[in-house]
Amino acid sequence: MKFVKVFLIIVGLIFVIMQFIPMGLSSTPANSGVDLIAVTQPPVPVAAMLRGACYDCHSQETRWPWYSRVAPVSWWLADHIKEGRKRLDFSDWPVADPKRAKKKLGQIADSVQEEEMPLASYAWMHASARFSAADRKLLTDWAAAEAEKLAASMPHETASE
Ligand code: HEC
Repeated sequence: MKFVKVFLIIVGLIFVIMQFIPMGLSSTPANSGVDLIAVTQPPVPVAAMLRGACYDCHSQETRWPWYSRVAPVSWWLADHIKEGRKRLDFSDWPVADPKRAKKKLGQIADSVQEEEMPLASYAWMHASARFSAADRKLLTDWAAAEAEKLAASMPHETASE
């Protein structure tokens, strides 16, 4: 029994020490750019889906529930968020580069239609990220329509590109 006690104390100490290792991501927004929802003014249900299912990983407005601050969960989440923001940051929408914005909208439509996004692990934890088929269609159609709008505004692009 002495062994079990020592073992538990060691595990407990490791857990406590882990909490002091920084997750390498600031939890305060370092806002710089232009926000996707502010620019595109999507219909309310679309904006709610983006906020409820994408913004935690793809914007600088990440909400951090208590468990997200406990290591090692915090490290794992920080990794997802860093990677998510790097690929697609809705807080830094490329308004000055419509070609890039159009490409990103196309990827958003694809990822939602093909059920790659939101990430399954996130949907388990967040009811707002569990999409019905109708939700998926609404979000996909919106992103595709926004991409079309941008294509129409670019004189040298064809809509199909
Ligand atoms: C739990 C975090 C998380 C959530 C929530 C999330 N994503 Fe992602 N997303 C990622 C990560 C991590 C990647 C990069 C790795 C990958 O593709 O799996 C990514 C990649 C993407 C890409 C590919 C970008 C590129 O340049 O390759 C798109 C598009 C995307 N996400 C859209 C969305 C949309 C739209 C939502 C909401 C419906 C969403 N994501 C929700 C974490 C997330």
